[in-house]
Amino acid sequence: MAEFPTRIDCGCFEMCKPEATFQLATDLFRMVDKNRAFLEPWLGWVDFVKGPEDEFCIVQSVAQKDTGKYFISVNGAVHGMVGFVQEHKSKQTVEIGYWLDNAMNGRGVMTRAVDELTGLAFGILGANRVEIQAAVENRKSRAIPERLGFNQDGILRQREIVRPGVIQDVAIYSKLKSEWAKGKQK
Ligand SMILES: CC(C)(COP(=O)(O)OP(=O)(O)OC[C@H]1O[C@@H](n2cnc3c(N)ncnc32)[C@H](O)[C@@H]1OP(=O)(O)O)[C@@H](O)C(=O)NCCC(=O)NCCS
Repeated sequence: MAEFPTRIDCGCFEMCKPEATFQLATDLFRMVDKNRAFLEPWLGWVDFVKGPEDEFCIVQSVAQKDTGKYFISVNGAVHGMVGFVQEHKSKQTVEIGYWLDNAMNGRGVMTRAVDELTGLAFGILGANRVEIQAAVENRKSRAIPERLGFNQDGILRQREIVRPGVIQDVAIYSKLKSEWAKGKQK
Protein backbone atom coordinates (compact mmCIF):
# COMPACT_ATOMS: atom_id res chain seq x y z
CA MET A 1 0.00 0.00 0.00
CA ALA A 2 1.34 3.41 -0.99
CA GLU A 3 1.84 5.74 1.96
CA PHE A 4 1.86 9.45 1.15
CA PRO A 5 3.51 12.12 3.33
CA THR A 6 1.04 13.88 5.64
CA ARG A 7 2.62 17.30 5.06
CA ILE A 8 4.53 18.88 2.18
CA ASP A 9 6.04 22.29 2.76
CA CYS A 10 5.71 24.41 -0.40
CA GLY A 11 7.00 27.68 1.05
CA CYS A 12 4.07 30.11 1.11
CA PHE A 13 1.56 27.25 1.54
CA GLU A 14 1.51 23.61 2.50
CA MET A 15 -0.14 20.47 1.20
CA CYS A 16 -1.50 18.56 4.18
CA LYS A 17 -3.59 15.66 5.40
CA PRO A 18 -5.05 16.88 8.69
CA GLU A 19 -7.02 14.69 11.07
CA ALA A 20 -10.67 14.40 10.01
CA THR A 21 -12.92 16.48 12.27
CA PHE A 22 -16.36 18.01 11.86
CA GLN A 23 -14.76 21.43 12.43
CA LEU A 24 -12.56 20.85 9.39
CA ALA A 25 -15.59 19.81 7.33
CA THR A 26 -17.27 23.04 8.44
CA ASP A 27 -14.22 25.13 7.45
CA LEU A 28 -14.09 23.37 4.08
CA PHE A 29 -17.80 23.95 3.51
CA ARG A 30 -17.38 27.68 4.26
CA MET A 31 -14.51 27.90 1.77
CA VAL A 32 -16.50 26.16 -0.98
CA ASP A 33 -19.59 28.26 -0.18
CA LYS A 34 -17.57 31.48 -0.39
CA ASN A 35 -16.19 30.41 -3.80
CA ARG A 36 -19.43 29.00 -5.24
CA ALA A 37 -19.73 31.45 -8.16
CA PHE A 38 -16.04 30.98 -9.01
CA LEU A 39 -16.09 27.15 -8.95
CA GLU A 40 -19.55 26.42 -10.35
CA PRO A 41 -18.79 26.99 -14.06
CA TRP A 42 -16.29 24.10 -14.02
CA LEU A 43 -17.16 21.77 -11.14
CA GLY A 44 -20.55 20.09 -11.04
CA TRP A 45 -20.11 18.69 -7.51
CA VAL A 46 -20.38 22.20 -6.05
CA ASP A 47 -24.18 22.06 -6.55
CA PHE A 48 -24.38 19.09 -4.18
CA VAL A 49 -22.48 20.74 -1.33
CA LYS A 50 -25.25 22.08 0.88
CA GLY A 51 -23.67 21.90 4.32
CA PRO A 52 -20.63 20.68 6.35
CA GLU A 53 -22.02 17.13 6.46
CA ASP A 54 -21.57 16.92 2.67
CA GLU A 55 -17.83 17.63 3.11
CA PHE A 56 -17.14 15.13 5.89
CA CYS A 57 -16.41 12.20 3.53
CA ILE A 58 -13.93 14.42 1.64
CA VAL A 59 -12.18 15.35 4.89
CA GLN A 60 -11.99 11.65 5.82
CA SER A 61 -10.62 10.71 2.42
CA VAL A 62 -7.91 13.39 2.58
CA ALA A 63 -6.88 12.26 6.08
CA GLN A 64 -6.08 8.72 4.91
CA LYS A 65 -2.39 8.15 4.23
CA ASP A 66 -2.95 5.93 1.20
CA THR A 67 -4.95 8.49 -0.81
CA GLY A 68 -3.07 11.05 -2.88
CA LYS A 69 -5.47 13.77 -1.75
CA TYR A 70 -4.32 16.98 -0.03
CA PHE A 71 -5.69 20.22 1.29
CA ILE A 72 -3.93 23.41 0.27
CA SER A 73 -3.44 25.19 3.54
CA VAL A 74 -1.97 28.45 4.85
CA ASN A 75 -1.39 28.82 8.60
CA GLY A 76 -3.69 25.87 9.25
CA ALA A 77 -6.61 27.25 7.19
CA VAL A 78 -7.89 25.25 4.20
CA HIS A 79 -7.86 27.15 0.87
CA GLY A 80 -8.31 24.41 -1.70
CA MET A 81 -7.63 20.85 -2.69
CA VAL A 82 -5.44 18.83 -5.02
CA GLY A 83 -5.57 15.08 -5.46
CA PHE A 84 -5.98 11.96 -7.51
CA VAL A 85 -9.58 11.97 -8.64
CA GLN A 86 -9.88 8.75 -10.52
CA GLU A 87 -8.83 5.40 -9.20
CA HIS A 88 -7.71 3.23 -12.09
CA LYS A 89 -7.48 -0.51 -11.49
CA SER A 90 -3.71 -0.91 -11.78
CA LYS A 91 -2.70 2.61 -10.62
CA GLN A 92 -0.67 2.80 -13.83
CA THR A 93 -2.67 5.86 -14.78
CA VAL A 94 -3.86 8.50 -12.34
CA GLU A 95 -5.77 11.70 -12.89
CA ILE A 96 -5.14 14.87 -10.90
CA GLY A 97 -7.92 17.31 -10.05
CA TYR A 98 -7.79 20.63 -8.18
CA TRP A 99 -9.50 23.78 -7.02
CA LEU A 100 -8.28 26.83 -5.15
CA ASP A 101 -9.79 29.71 -3.18
CA ASN A 102 -10.21 32.63 -5.60
CA ALA A 103 -8.35 34.88 -3.15
CA MET A 104 -5.21 32.70 -3.52
CA ASN A 105 -5.23 32.61 -7.34
CA GLY A 106 -2.52 34.02 -9.55
CA ARG A 107 0.51 33.20 -7.35
CA GLY A 108 1.53 29.89 -8.89
CA VAL A 109 0.13 27.91 -5.94
CA MET A 110 -1.65 25.23 -7.96
CA THR A 111 1.15 24.84 -10.47
CA ARG A 112 3.50 24.05 -7.58
CA ALA A 113 0.98 21.71 -5.90
CA VAL A 114 0.29 19.76 -9.12
CA ASP A 115 4.03 19.44 -9.75
CA GLU A 116 4.49 17.98 -6.24
CA LEU A 117 1.62 15.53 -6.69
CA THR A 118 2.89 14.47 -10.12
CA GLY A 119 6.20 13.55 -8.48
CA LEU A 120 4.36 11.50 -5.83
CA ALA A 121 2.34 9.72 -8.54
CA PHE A 122 5.49 8.56 -10.33
CA GLY A 123 7.50 8.01 -7.16
CA ILE A 124 5.44 6.70 -4.23
CA LEU A 125 2.49 5.39 -6.24
CA GLY A 126 4.58 3.97 -9.10
CA ALA A 127 2.28 5.32 -11.81
CA ASN A 128 3.33 5.40 -15.45
CA ARG A 129 0.96 8.13 -16.69
CA VAL A 130 -0.52 11.19 -15.02
CA GLU A 131 -3.56 12.80 -16.61
CA ILE A 132 -5.17 16.19 -16.22
CA GLN A 133 -8.50 17.08 -17.78
CA ALA A 134 -9.84 20.62 -18.08
CA ALA A 135 -12.72 22.18 -19.96
CA VAL A 136 -11.51 23.69 -23.23
CA GLU A 137 -12.70 27.13 -22.08
CA ASN A 138 -11.08 26.86 -18.63
CA ARG A 139 -7.89 28.71 -19.57
CA LYS A 140 -6.58 29.05 -16.00
CA SER A 141 -6.86 25.33 -15.43
CA ARG A 142 -5.36 24.37 -18.79
CA ALA A 143 -2.41 26.67 -18.15
CA ILE A 144 -1.28 24.41 -15.29
CA PRO A 145 -0.43 21.23 -17.27
CA GLU A 146 0.82 23.40 -20.13
CA ARG A 147 3.20 25.25 -17.79
CA LEU A 148 4.39 21.92 -16.36
CA GLY A 149 5.20 20.47 -19.78
CA PHE A 150 2.33 17.97 -20.04
CA ASN A 151 1.43 16.82 -23.53
CA GLN A 152 -2.01 17.76 -24.85
CA ASP A 153 -3.32 14.40 -26.07
CA GLY A 154 -6.54 15.69 -27.56
CA ILE A 155 -9.97 17.17 -27.06
CA LEU A 156 -12.76 14.94 -25.74
CA ARG A 157 -15.99 16.19 -27.30
CA GLN A 158 -18.90 16.84 -24.93
CA ARG A 159 -17.03 14.87 -22.26
CA GLU A 160 -18.40 16.67 -19.24
CA ILE A 161 -22.00 17.34 -18.33
CA VAL A 162 -21.35 19.82 -15.52
CA ARG A 163 -25.06 20.09 -14.83
CA PRO A 164 -28.16 19.62 -16.98
CA GLY A 165 -27.79 21.83 -20.05
CA VAL A 166 -24.08 22.60 -19.48
CA ILE A 167 -21.98 20.29 -21.64
CA GLN A 168 -18.28 20.96 -22.10
CA ASP A 169 -15.56 19.80 -24.44
CA VAL A 170 -12.54 18.76 -22.38
CA ALA A 171 -8.82 18.98 -23.15
CA ILE A 172 -6.85 15.98 -21.92
CA TYR A 173 -3.18 16.29 -20.97
CA SER A 174 -0.68 13.67 -19.88
CA LYS A 175 2.83 13.26 -18.59
CA LEU A 176 4.63 9.90 -18.73
CA LYS A 177 7.09 8.61 -16.17
CA SER A 178 9.88 8.61 -18.77
CA GLU A 179 9.22 12.30 -19.52
CA TRP A 180 9.18 13.17 -15.82
CA ALA A 181 12.47 11.35 -15.19
CA LYS A 182 14.05 13.16 -18.14
CA GLY A 183 12.85 16.53 -16.83
CA LYS A 184 14.44 15.85 -13.44
CA GLN A 185 17.84 15.21 -15.00
CA LYS A 186 18.00 18.68 -16.62
C1 LIG B 1 -7.52 26.60 -11.97
C2 LIG B 1 -7.01 27.12 -10.63
C3 LIG B 1 -6.77 25.94 -9.69
C4 LIG B 1 -5.71 27.91 -10.85
O1 LIG B 1 -5.11 28.25 -9.59
P1 LIG B 1 -3.78 29.18 -9.52
O2 LIG B 1 -3.02 28.89 -8.28
O3 LIG B 1 -4.15 30.58 -9.80
O4 LIG B 1 -2.99 28.62 -10.76
P2 LIG B 1 -1.45 28.68 -11.05
O5 LIG B 1 -0.64 27.99 -10.04
O6 LIG B 1 -1.33 28.14 -12.41
O7 LIG B 1 -1.12 30.23 -11.01
C5 LIG B 1 -0.82 30.84 -12.22
C6 LIG B 1 -0.80 32.33 -12.05
O8 LIG B 1 0.13 32.67 -11.03
C7 LIG B 1 1.18 33.47 -11.59
N1 LIG B 1 2.41 33.08 -10.92
C8 LIG B 1 3.02 33.83 -9.98
N2 LIG B 1 4.10 33.18 -9.54
C9 LIG B 1 4.17 32.00 -10.19
C10 LIG B 1 5.06 30.91 -10.15
N3 LIG B 1 6.10 30.88 -9.33
N4 LIG B 1 4.81 29.83 -10.95
C11 LIG B 1 3.75 29.81 -11.77
N5 LIG B 1 2.87 30.84 -11.85
C12 LIG B 1 3.08 31.92 -11.07
C13 LIG B 1 1.12 33.20 -13.08
O9 LIG B 1 1.64 34.26 -13.81
C14 LIG B 1 -0.37 33.03 -13.30
O10 LIG B 1 -1.02 34.26 -13.32
P3 LIG B 1 -2.26 34.53 -14.33
O11 LIG B 1 -3.38 33.57 -13.89
O12 LIG B 1 -2.59 35.95 -14.12
O13 LIG B 1 -1.74 34.20 -15.69
C15 LIG B 1 -8.06 28.06 -9.98
O14 LIG B 1 -8.28 29.14 -10.84
C16 LIG B 1 -9.40 27.38 -9.70
O15 LIG B 1 -9.57 26.74 -8.67
N6 LIG B 1 -10.37 27.55 -10.63
C17 LIG B 1 -11.74 27.07 -10.43
C18 LIG B 1 -11.84 25.55 -10.30
C19 LIG B 1 -11.23 24.85 -11.47
O16 LIG B 1 -11.30 25.30 -12.60
N7 LIG B 1 -10.62 23.68 -11.20
C20 LIG B 1 -10.02 22.86 -12.23
C21 LIG B 1 -11.03 22.06 -12.93
S1 LIG B 1 -10.27 21.15 -14.25
